[in-house]
This record gives sequence, structure tokens and C-alpha cells, in this order.
Amino acid sequence: MILVTGGAGFIGANFVLDWLRGSDEPVINLDCLTYAGNLENLVSLAGDPRHVFVRGDICDTALLADLFSRHRPRAVIHFAAESHVDRSIHGPGAFIRTNVEGTFSLLQAARAHWQSLAGPERGAFRFLHVSTDEVYGSLGPTDPPFVETRAYEPNSPYSASKAASDHLVRAWHHTYGLPVLTTNCSNNYGPFQFPEKLIPLVIANALAGKPLPIYGDGMNVRDWLYVGDHCAAIRAVLERGRPGETYNIGGWNEMPNLEIVRTICGLLDELHPDSPVRPHADLMTFVADRPGHDRRYAIDARKIERELGWRPAETFATGIRKTVEWYLENRNWVEHVQSGAYREWVQQNYGERT
Ligand code: NAD
Ligand code: TYD
Repeated sequence: MILVTGGAGFIGANFVLDWLRGSDEPVINLDCLTYAGNLENLVSLAGDPRHVFVRGDICDTALLADLFSRHRPRAVIHFAAESHVDRSIHGPGAFIRTNVEGTFSLLQAARAHWQSLAGPERGAFRFLHVSTDEVYGSLGPTDPPFVETRAYEPNSPYSASKAASDHLVRAWHHTYGLPVLTTNCSNNYGPFQFPEKLIPLVIANALAGKPLPIYGDGMNVRDWLYVGDHCAAIRAVLERGRPGETYNIGGWNEMPNLEIVRTICGLLDELHPDSPVRPHADLMTFVADRPGHDRRYAIDARKIERELGWRPAETFATGIRKTVEWYLENRNWVEHVQSGAYREWVQQNYGERT
């Protein structure tokens, strides 16, 4: 079996669902259910014995030791993290705790487990660390995309905490020989993404007739990848990646935020013609910029294609259409996650921008 951390969050839940669609190998899913973790993402697995959910914290060393010795996973896929840049600006402590200390605890527990294995089991064990392109810092308009050998220059508390975790993972390989793999992926979008990130926030606000907040001049550029493609890339790295290596994962799809928001508005005009707020683009509102806002990220994903044969299956046009359709069909899911705590966050982050 495999141990997945953070499997009730956006990418982790998509990964678990995809995994069990393609394999009968069981999953232990360790997640402490922060505001971003949601068991509704996994309801289709209710009663499925291949999925074992454990509510717990990756900083809990006793729990980790127990899970490893009881389930003896052949691999760890580590998604659990605090993941939102704006929240890291308001409250960096949680990012240091989960992303740095939590990754440290998990590495230690995985190392003890791996060292207890023998023969082929020991040779086959993998620790796959899911990271971000944001560790590389910000690009100028004509700079080449990020390659795996680029120096780390993280700029936000989020990216600094992820960079720190990447360094720990690297060191556990070089010092102890733990067979690790690290992936650095660009911005994901798709089903089950919490509506604090740009794409689901814009869809949810547009459906509610609320302003679509665009930070600064809207010309910050990100590379966008459909979440199902990210999950496929992670499976490829787990199966065929070389221990100790890092792999950049991206969609070959750089776009400024304004274009993302306009595309979503156009799709909503088409797919939700009865909406009282058409054209949805009328809701676009420029607001004060994010402090330290990275200007551009771009991924050179040639290594994973060359070595592991992975390329994204979706284009942005196909992926964003599926995503908007999913949010239109799952309005209950959106309503459920918009709790009191969510409304407090919206007030904290957006109240002072306009
Ligand atoms: P998310 O915020 O949606 O989910 C994170 C999950 O981790 C939640 O279920 C949460 O409950 C859980 N978690 C948080 N702290 C925990 C702790 N201490 N112990 C146990 N569980 C804990 O995040 P996501 O967008 O799904 O991102 C998953 C991973 O992928 C993160 O490591 C992130 O850095 C990385 N990543 C995300 C993106 C993106 O665009 N979302 C891009 C590249 C890399
Ligand atoms: P986000 O989804 O938070 O991802 P990240 O900051 O990790 O790339 O933001 C994507 C881009 O959209 C980023 O340039 C910030 C911008 N943005 C807005 O313009 N308005 C918003 O309300 C949010 C959440 C983000």
C-alpha cells in the first residue's frame, strides 16, 4: 500500500481518486483536515476498503511511527501542506510548522521505516515530495522557463517554507540515502480546489454576482496545469523516476491573470446563459496588489518528458471548460466550503484591498 499525506485537500484528493480508479493498491490517507481538507472530496470512496482515512497531523511523530509499523507502506506521497500565498502573508507560522517541521517529522519516520526494511522491499521504497515552481522565485518577461538546476530564490513565506522542505528532502537522500523524489509543479486547477485560489474564487464569485478581484495590473503570469495531468505526472515519477532527482512539471501554458479571468467569464456566459450578471466580465475589479507579488513563473518540463515520457493530456481550453462545468454541477460543494471561517478569510484578505 501507499501512504498519502494531505489526501483530503485539492490535489491529494484528486490523486487518491485517480489512483483507486486505476489500481487496487490500498491507500492510507493521513490528513488533519485543516480548513482546506474536506472529506466531501472523497465521498465516492465511502465504504471502499482500499481507502483508509486517518485524521492526524504530520507533526505527530508517535502517530507516524505507528502508521509506518502497522501498514508498512511501499511509498509515501507527500502532499500535506499549507498552500496559499495570501494566507502565508497574514500568518506565516502555520507554514513553518506544517511545511518545514511536518516534512522533517515525516522524513524521520519514513527513514526509520525504510531502514527496517530488507532486500527488494528496501530497494523499492520511495518518498515522493510534492513541491511547487514558486521555490525558484520570479522571472522577468524574457527569461527562459525554470529548469531543475536553477537556484532557489523563494519570495513569499509559502515558497520559502516549501523551499526549506525541498532542502530537507534533498539532504535526507544525500546523508542517509533515503530514496526520495521531488516534483516542482506549476499552478494547478480543476475539481475540488478550495475557492481561495484564483480560478475557483473567480468561478464562485461570478456565480454569486460578486466582484472578481484582480490584484495589481492583472499581468502577473503563471503556468497552469490541469490537476489530472499533475496526478499522472506524479504516478510516472513514482514508478520510473530516479531516486535523488527532481522533476519540473508544467502545462506549457503561460498566461496572465487577466486572460484567465476573461476566459472563465466567457465560459460562464456560454454555459450559464440564465445568469443575472451576464456578461460576467463586468464583475472584474482591480484591487490592491499582493505584497511581494511574483511577476512570472514558467516551467521547462522537458526533463520529465524526455526521461519518463510524461506530457500533459489537457490543453488549457479543454481543462478550464471541464473545471467550469464541474463547479456549475457541484454548487452544493462550493456552498458547503463557504463556511463562517471562509467568510472571515474573505474579509481579512479582501476587506482592506478595495
Ligand atoms: P490544499 O491546501 O488544498 O490541501 C492541503 C491538505 O493538507 C489539506 O487537506 C489539509 O487538511 C492537509 N494538511 C495541512 N496541514 C496538515 C498537517 N499538519 N497534517 C496533516 N495534513 C495537513 O493544497 P493543494 O493545493 O492540494 O496542494 C497539495 C500540495 O501540492 C502542497 O504541498 C502544495 O505545496 C503542492 N502544490 C500545489 C500547487 C497548486 O497549484 N495547488 C502547485 C504545485 C504544488
Ligand atoms: P493563486 O491562485 O493564489 O496562486 P499563486 O499565488 O500560488 O500563484 O493566485 C494566482 C494568481 O492570481 C497570482 O498572480 C495572484 C492572482 N490573484 C488575483 O489576482 N486575485 C485573487 O483574488 C487571487 C486569490 C489571486
